[in-house]
Amino acid sequence: MSFRTSATDYVEDVSPGSGALPPRARYPHSDAESLSLNGSWRFRLSPTADAEDDAFAEPGFDAGGWAEVSVPGHWVLQGHGAPIYTNHLYPFPVDPPRVPTENPTGDHLRVFDLPEGWDLTDGGAVLRFDGVESCARVWLNGTDIGEFKGSRLPHEFAVGHLLRPAGNVLAVRVHQWSAGSYLEDQDQWWLPGIFRDVTLLHRPAGSVLDFFVHASYDHLTGEGTLRVDSDVDGRVSVAALDIDVATGEPVTVPVEAWTAETPKLYDGVLATEGERVPLRIGFRTVALADGLIKVNGTPVLFKGVNRHEWHPERGRALDLETMREDVLLMKRHNINAVRTSHYPPHPDFLDLCDEYGLWVIDECDLETHGFTEQAWRDNPVDDDRWTPALLDRAARMVERDKNHPSVVIWSLGNEAGTGRGLTEMAEWIHGRDSGRLVHYEGDIDCRDTDVYSRMYADHAEVERIGRGLDGGTHKRRRLPFIQCEYAHAMGNGPGGLADYQRVFESYERIQGGFIWEWIDHGIKDDRYGYAYGGDFGEELHDGNFVCDGLVFPDRRPSPGLVEYKKVIEPVRFEGDGTAVRVTNKQDFADLSALAFEWSYQVGGETVESGRLAVPALAAGESAEVKLPEPPVATGSGETQWTVRAVLAADTGWGPQGHVVAWGQFPVSGRQSPSFAASAGPVVSGDGLITLGPAAFDARSGALRSIGPVAVTGLRLDVWRATTDNDDGAAWQSDIRYGTLWRKFGLHRMRHLVDAVEPTGDALTVRTRVAPAAWEFGLVTVYRWTTDGSRLGLTVSVTPDGDWTVPLPRLGVRFGLPAADRVRWFGGGPGEAYPDTKAASMVGRWQSTVDDLQTPYLRPQENGARADVRWAELGGLRIEGDPEFWFTARRWTSEQLDAAAHRTDLTPGTASGSGSAAGVWVNLDHGQHGIGSQSCGPGVLPQYQLHAGPAEFSFVFAHIG
Ligand code: GAL
Repeated sequence: MSFRTSATDYVEDVSPGSGALPPRARYPHSDAESLSLNGSWRFRLSPTADAEDDAFAEPGFDAGGWAEVSVPGHWVLQGHGAPIYTNHLYPFPVDPPRVPTENPTGDHLRVFDLPEGWDLTDGGAVLRFDGVESCARVWLNGTDIGEFKGSRLPHEFAVGHLLRPAGNVLAVRVHQWSAGSYLEDQDQWWLPGIFRDVTLLHRPAGSVLDFFVHASYDHLTGEGTLRVDSDVDGRVSVAALDIDVATGEPVTVPVEAWTAETPKLYDGVLATEGERVPLRIGFRTVALADGLIKVNGTPVLFKGVNRHEWHPERGRALDLETMREDVLLMKRHNINAVRTSHYPPHPDFLDLCDEYGLWVIDECDLETHGFTEQAWRDNPVDDDRWTPALLDRAARMVERDKNHPSVVIWSLGNEAGTGRGLTEMAEWIHGRDSGRLVHYEGDIDCRDTDVYSRMYADHAEVERIGRGLDGGTHKRRRLPFIQCEYAHAMGNGPGGLADYQRVFESYERIQGGFIWEWIDHGIKDDRYGYAYGGDFGEELHDGNFVCDGLVFPDRRPSPGLVEYKKVIEPVRFEGDGTAVRVTNKQDFADLSALAFEWSYQVGGETVESGRLAVPALAAGESAEVKLPEPPVATGSGETQWTVRAVLAADTGWGPQGHVVAWGQFPVSGRQSPSFAASAGPVVSGDGLITLGPAAFDARSGALRSIGPVAVTGLRLDVWRATTDNDDGAAWQSDIRYGTLWRKFGLHRMRHLVDAVEPTGDALTVRTRVAPAAWEFGLVTVYRWTTDGSRLGLTVSVTPDGDWTVPLPRLGVRFGLPAADRVRWFGGGPGEAYPDTKAASMVGRWQSTVDDLQTPYLRPQENGARADVRWAELGGLRIEGDPEFWFTARRWTSEQLDAAAHRTDLTPGTASGSGSAAGVWVNLDHGQHGIGSQSCGPGVLPQYQLHAGPAEFSFVFAHIG
């Protein structure tokens, strides 16, 4: 007896499906009628694929008692079931192509009328699904029209013969798991549903079928050649170019080329007997030449990101405005390329890339990463039975997206091992489209691909590749290199971006990279603010590894994005105080779109500013531009130039004045704060020692107050709430300091007071700071002095014993009863760490304690401001000698460390006794770098904070 009914055999069938039309080019609209079937649909969830029969598909079925869901949407985000997050583990037994009997299945129903004027006698109609996860069976008016897999790919069905003017019943049964799930093991939430548009398209007699716009550009002649191959004959016109030719006929005319920097599109029309389709044509030629990826004859440098589709409430069901927001944010942050990891995006996204200008690596919906757990045995990409499904996926991507000038590279998929199926995909793509290159990172020998691609290679290795010293197959050695993923943006970080960019720019063969990844996939959640893996009770999950984006789930830029913007800025400024060398680092555009400004700061305040005359340098050119005479300083102090490149006029993606690039050049350096000890400590009878404005506990030497401001727990601090990058990825074989720091007890240092010496003009407190169980420590001496009104502190630290790990941080921490507004002179406005401080601009800044926090979804060290000369908060002014790292928060590092979500953090209060304080302040002499070891290399040696003798000072003053 069989327990599996044949009615659902298609679910576990390796074939791509049946009944759908051949894939074809997608265009957003034409003069043919279309009807969006998005909206509210009736919905019934069943626990298995075969729990319900297909009676619901029959006209007249009463679904009045069913729930409703929004289409596009995922039912698990609409109160039915729950999402699951795994990185690469399949959340079901690996038994291809079988899937669990427990297979959540959503029946969707929608009744619709045709709009007035829809002529049922003229031609036919096509029903299009732009994306359904993971497998669907479709009925129209009770007739089974087919089933399909390939979640992020379009499927069309001919339905004209089934339509009626009114009361059409569309029934779609969607299974969460199918054979297709084995091909869709991307690192993301598993989110079943009809999550992209459903559209009914009228196909009048003689309407367009498939067409291929070939629009090349000859950089030697400045001419473009247009040829539109169309399954249905017709004419192609482009008014601005005086083109009016038959389909299939080439025409060559002078044109402006399309590039990501100059996204010139020409509006055209493809007219067949039955339809007029608007075209947006970009002339450009992509070629592999001289071992380089060239567009229009010029090698390009990708400053890219990997973009998953994400919305914190709607998952992968994105509306046009959200997609536009992504593109605008990318353009405003100097990003010029997107890898559509790891599937073809909603097609409207590519229209936006064409329009605003982004290079695109369009990636196929294919990943079988979970097979790595079984040494890739039974991997579908190396099993001929699955090859039709792979070829179907390749064809659906290429045919849908082939008319986008922005798409310059096709990617076969991600992390699918190796196999014959991939080779067949590559061969098919090369045969179908010779005008683009083929990418697949897993093809380490580049047997099938045109680009050598890697992920998370460290700086040194990329440099070796740049020098051509990396070996590899003969073919690979002749190919250009990109990092399709690097700089894992999980939590605080990524560190080391500027160092990567230097390598990328130093070697022609290195054509840039794509940061992993664009957005945190946090799910908006009443309990946690944003939920991540495990928050829905999944039995297998990968926690917050799904939150590794340059923008937070609400698309607020993280410090990582601000850093990236600075590191990849298209104009470089190098200055010596009298002149600036300006370099146009773009590949195509000159500088005419930009205006330039200078400003002069004294003590961080701008005293004068003006325009800087910079010639409209061509791409790659540079020029030296003289700075004006320094304005007369309004007093002595630190002085510097700041120069900026801004948009000269409003563009489609940014307003006039938007800052594109900047540089700073010191003129006169900083002088140490002047401070001379003038009075000594006084031991009073009440167990206190007073020193100028300050009072100390006479036994412990602990600072109690500065003037009226109570101070708690000021002492040496080496701990930080470990970042995702400190903790590192569990599978990494490299040393992971986060783990070692805990092993060595750096989060539980003990402070042994050796002596409290109120002698001469100083109060000296001698201590040894060390963790239980270990013999190493830090001999720490606090030397307190006063100039009468202010309090000076010099901390001397001498490591003792065998230190084998760097320190997370080195500085002092203390509590204040309260603080809100913060002002400082130093790096800002945002967070910075030793290897994430390119974007830290020296100036006067202000903020609030709350706004100093960076809201990483999993709380961790954040919010430090670099190179701070002085800071004011909570009634104190603190000057540092030398500059320091400044951090203030309403909780301790230990509380931050213990929190799993932001909602676990509750502001401290000054009330109560002991160590309670409202605000905790860290003044750090050193911070360990950030790196990107959550999936990649650790902190580069030059950014590690090694234990060594150190001395640093502060001057504290009470301010009213
Ligand atoms: C890569 C993978 C991505 C993502 C990343 C880590 O190996 O291609 O999909 O998992 O690692 O966040």
